[in-house]
Amino acid sequence: MHDPATVTLILSCLIGQAQQVAAPEMAEDTAPTWHGDVGPIIRTHCAECHDGRGPGPFKLTDHDDVAPRALFIKHVLQQDIMPPWLPSVNGPEFRNKRGLSAEELALIERWIDAGTPLGARHDLGDSDPGDDAREDVVIDEAVESLNASMRSPWEVPAEGGTRWFKAERDKRTFVMPLASPEPLRIRTISYRSTAPIVVGATALAADSTGNARRMVDWDQEPGSYMMGDIGFVPAGSLGVVGPGGGTLRIPDGYHLSIPAGSELVSEVHFRPQGRPWTLNDSIELVQVPDGEVSRALVALNVMQRKIELDPDERKSFTSELTIPQSVDLVALTPRASRRCVSLAVVRIRDGVPPESLLQIDDWNPHYRRTYVLETPIRLDVDDRIEVTWRYDNSEANPRNPVVPAEPVSLGARVGSANILLMCAPVDPTGTKDLQDFALEEMRRRQR
Ligand code: HEC
Repeated sequence: MHDPATVTLILSCLIGQAQQVAAPEMAEDTAPTWHGDVGPIIRTHCAECHDGRGPGPFKLTDHDDVAPRALFIKHVLQQDIMPPWLPSVNGPEFRNKRGLSAEELALIERWIDAGTPLGARHDLGDSDPGDDAREDVVIDEAVESLNASMRSPWEVPAEGGTRWFKAERDKRTFVMPLASPEPLRIRTISYRSTAPIVVGATALAADSTGNARRMVDWDQEPGSYMMGDIGFVPAGSLGVVGPGGGTLRIPDGYHLSIPAGSELVSEVHFRPQGRPWTLNDSIELVQVPDGEVSRALVALNVMQRKIELDPDERKSFTSELTIPQSVDLVALTPRASRRCVSLAVVRIRDGVPPESLLQIDDWNPHYRRTYVLETPIRLDVDDRIEVTWRYDNSEANPRNPVVPAEPVSLGARVGSANILLMCAPVDPTGTKDLQDFALEEMRRRQR
């Protein structure tokens, strides 16, 4: 289970402790060093994106990359800007969390204050992370992985402009043929982008109706400017991976379902970078091994169909869903545009104070992803899940794409803002009922 970076970190902590025991009078004024302590932390938390190939604008893998930017890095860490992680501490723990612990942050600060000492290279504390720094997929040799790719490359334009921002067209939807005659039980999804520096969050879905292909074929260029929602299947119902690509791992005991004959649909969000980039992305899927028992996840959609705002208007939207049968909540996927500034998902039960399931105080759709709970949460029949999105259509919202503000009128069948609750029925025979319920709830909100 331990990836090499974690092992390195653990070993270097143990060595640090051993040194303290051996020379306690030295421990007080011994500053942390790059080779001893800081390098492994930076590589674990930063190099995934800042490795020269990922979405980060510069490398942060070696002392030479980090030391010249030390004060900038300190500022960015103290302001909690990096590593990008949206959920607030007011809520449950997530598995794919990427923030630094208070101890790690304090250590990096001490290292920067001490003038970024390099320290002695020793065999255990430092090694080239190579590919290990990226969110690598641990593929069980016995399980075959499946691949799907874009049918043809598409060039991400160098600049935004009218065409880009008119209807917030900073996204494009592509179809990736998969054509499995059998339904698939998926445990791991890895998204590989050829242009990680421009690519933000990517929302995935499966389409077994052929409608996604009809939609993209209607467009002159590869892909489509339409959203990745296909009928009542919301983009993201197969998960959202973070900027530049990455891996979504579903915990053991659960899986994502892909119907037989489906194609994959990816709604890619991007940010122009002043030069064109060629997008020719692919997806790797790892299945649950044959014979292993696992429960299907169903996406329950808590949605706000319409978002209407006057210029400079600030407004909250609240939507609710009542849980129809006992389920285990495994992950949550939020969606809202850049005019949304914060959101909160709360569970409400009789006689118990409301419980936070996800709270994001500074919403930034570029960094959204599927948040996988450290431990699934059992939701009972009649629990109410209430979601509140706060919108700010003024200049005070730094992400408002149109300044001075213009009226906003958004509408989407599966929600202009939504939260997908990835749930597995406690009783696996309830899966079909839960799917029917999810669909009926979305239909009901159209009326
Ligand atoms: C998920 C990918 C990701 C991770 C992990 C990450 N960064 Fe970044 N970083 C970015 C991107 C993308 C940018 C470009 C600015 C932006 O898009 O917000 C950036 C920008 C920066 C900047 C410039 C800040 C600015 O406002 O332009 C610094 C400094 C930085 N990162 C440091 C770090 C450090 C230190 C870590 C680890 C503790 C880290 N980053 C982890 C993606 C990441």
